[in-house]
Order: sequence, then C-alpha cells, then structure tokens
Amino acid sequence: MEVIIGKKVLEKLNYHLREMAYSKLYIITDHNVKGLYGQYLSDSLKDYDHAFYSIPPGEKSKSVDMVLAIYDDLIDKKIDRGSLIIAFGGGVVGDLAGFIASTFKRGIAYIQIPTSLLAQVDSSIGGKVGIDYGGLKNIIGSFYFPQLVFIDVSLLKTLSYRDVICGLAEILKYGLIADYHLFKYACSNFDKVFNKNEDLLLELVNSSVCIKQEIVKRDKLDKGERRILNFGHTIGHGIESLYDFNKYNHGEAVILGMIYESYIGMEMGLIDSSYFIEIYNSLIELIKPIRFKEDEIKSLLDLMRNDKKNLDNKFIFILPTGKGQVGVFDNIDTDLIIKSLKGEWF
Ligand SMILES: NC(=O)c1ccc[n+]([C@@H]2O[C@H](COP(=O)([O-])OP(=O)(O)OC[C@H]3O[C@@H](n4cnc5c(N)ncnc54)[C@H](O)[C@@H]3O)[C@@H](O)[C@H]2O)c1
Repeated sequence: MEVIIGKKVLEKLNYHLREMAYSKLYIITDHNVKGLYGQYLSDSLKDYDHAFYSIPPGEKSKSVDMVLAIYDDLIDKKIDRGSLIIAFGGGVVGDLAGFIASTFKRGIAYIQIPTSLLAQVDSSIGGKVGIDYGGLKNIIGSFYFPQLVFIDVSLLKTLSYRDVICGLAEILKYGLIADYHLFKYACSNFDKVFNKNEDLLLELVNSSVCIKQEIVKRDKLDKGERRILNFGHTIGHGIESLYDFNKYNHGEAVILGMIYESYIGMEMGLIDSSYFIEIYNSLIELIKPIRFKEDEIKSLLDLMRNDKKNLDNKFIFILPTGKGQVGVFDNIDTDLIIKSLKGEWF
C-alpha cells in the first residue's frame, strides 16, 4: 500500500492518479470537509469525470442507512469496477467509504485522503473499514486496503482543538509503544502542534505512519502484534462509553486510559516510578485525570469486561514495560484496576 505524505500535495493528486487509469471518480466526504476543501479537490481533479457524495459529519453517519443511501447513488451514477472511490475526510468518512468500496460490486478500488489528524496517523492506515450497528461501534466491517493513502498535512490547519487532541493522543501512543523519542519530541512541541505548524506535523505524521505500517505489516489481520496499538484503549473505551460518548472524545479518553494503564504498569513493577511520572506529567498537560466514584468504577469494569478485545472473560491490557515499549497482559488483578481508577494516588 503506497502512502504519500507532504505539505500542499493535494494539488498534485492529479499527477498521482494518472498511472491508475480509472473511468470515474466517486468522492465520499462530509459537509464540513466538502465546504472547506471540496472546490480545491475538484480543481485538482478537473481532468477526471468525478462526483461528490457528502454526508453529515459525525459518528452517526457510520450507519447501515447511510451505506444503503450511498449504494443507491452509486447505482444511479453507474459507478462500476473501473471506477475509483475516494474517501475524503476524517475517520468516519474513511471507515464508511472503505466499507462501501469493499462491498459494492464485490469490491472496487479506493484511495484514502484523510483530512483529520486522527485519520492521517491512524484510521487511514491498516485497512480496517466498517460501520456501527445496534449501538455497537465498528461491529460490521472488513479488512480492505486502499490503493493509495494520500496525506496532505496542510489540510489540518482548519481542524478544531479537540480534533487535534484526538490525533495527538494516537501520536503519543505510538511514541509510548514503539518510539520513546517520538513521545518526548511530541510532548516538547504541544504548542506547535496546536498552532498546526506544518513542518512539525509532517514529521509527527511521518513517524506515526511508519510505526503503524510496520506493525500492520507484521499482523495484517489483527491476530497478534496489532494488539499493542490498543495501549490506553482498554480503559479509554470504557471511559468513552461510560459517558455515552458525550463528555470525552476518543483521543481524550485514550489519554486518560494511558495515564491509568501506565499507573497499573508501575504498580506491577513493569516500569519505574520516574518513567511513570514523566508520562503522567506530560499527559496531564492535555487532560486531567478523574477520581472515579465506586458506582462509576463498577460500570467501567462491566464495560471493559464486554470489550470485544477480551478473551475468556479476562481483561487484556497493553502495559508499558520500558521506554517506548509495551507488552500484552491478561492477568491483571481487578483490585489494581480499581485502585488506579479511584485515583487516590494523584
Ligand atoms: N479504521 C481504523 O483503523 C480506525 C482507527 C481509529 C479510529 N477509527 C474511526 O475513526 C472515526 C473517528 O475519526 P475522526 O476523529 O477523524 O472523526 P470524524 O471523521 O468525525 O472527524 C472529526 C471532525 O473533524 C472534521 N474535519 C475533518 N477534517 C477536517 C479538516 N481538515 N478541517 C476541519 N475539520 C475537519 C469532520 O468534519 C468532523 O466534524 C471513528 O469512527 C473511529 O471508529 C477507525
């Protein structure tokens, strides 16, 4: 899977598509991204027969109803296997468009042009596509790799503060699981990240994509090593659902998850207290941890027990084992999880 990363590269997309020879291009995007960059993309594709389908922004659009509406439009517009679907947006658009590409006419080619930081460093890489159903996130889906991932960091200049946090959380996670220097580098440049400094973003996106690609290459179908990408996510997912996905966005919840899970790692003797304090002091600059009440902890444990990553009713945790290193653990003492969530230690 080819990945192109750069500043102001969208205007050169035309050139990269030249080698691919598709009859029609069908761009799936959301209303925000279309409003901001639709014309820009259209100009760069002026030599191609292309059409847009724009969806309302947000997770609710990753639905069966939306898939059916887009299938209808694909049929109307006579999109065939010689056409190319372009996912132009954040992770919602990428997951939905990739799922449609994987199923329509038994699979037609698609490319990802991720426009949010989370989509650039995470969701566009790794071939996981899907939609939500019955209140369950990503419950229907498949693995379907794009022909090309085309990343233009200049598009990030319009991203909101909270959406920057979402992507930054994953960058920090890559640092903590695989590249301590990336973690340190990102932490010492939070101001530049939030100011959307393009040179810095380019470096961070490049390093993150390399790490994710390496891990995915060794475990394409998520049967083993890919699990380490879930550092911070076991508790993070629990926190997101505890508040019905309203209070914390995914990135904020993952940052909290990384704090509590690092504490568990320290208490288990996997990392020393100075490394834990380093992680803690860096992450609380972005989001403050919470002292969960007893009933909240009970709900969190239930939510974590139901996490689809768990096997045989055991909690699976990814915990830090050294600087830029993690391991997979399935024998975590429930009392230790409770102690971490009570937060009497901060
Ligand atoms: N497939 C995977 O491996 C994978 C991995 C992680 C997350 N995901 C999925 O990704 C989704 C979350 O992705 P997300 O955080 O990008 O959410 P999103 O797609 O909802 O985008 C967040 C917001 O940013 C806006 N936006 C996007 N690009 C913009 C830009 N350049 N300027 C201004 N606004 C912009 C969008 O319109 C939206 O309002 C979830 O559905 C999650 O399940 C998938």
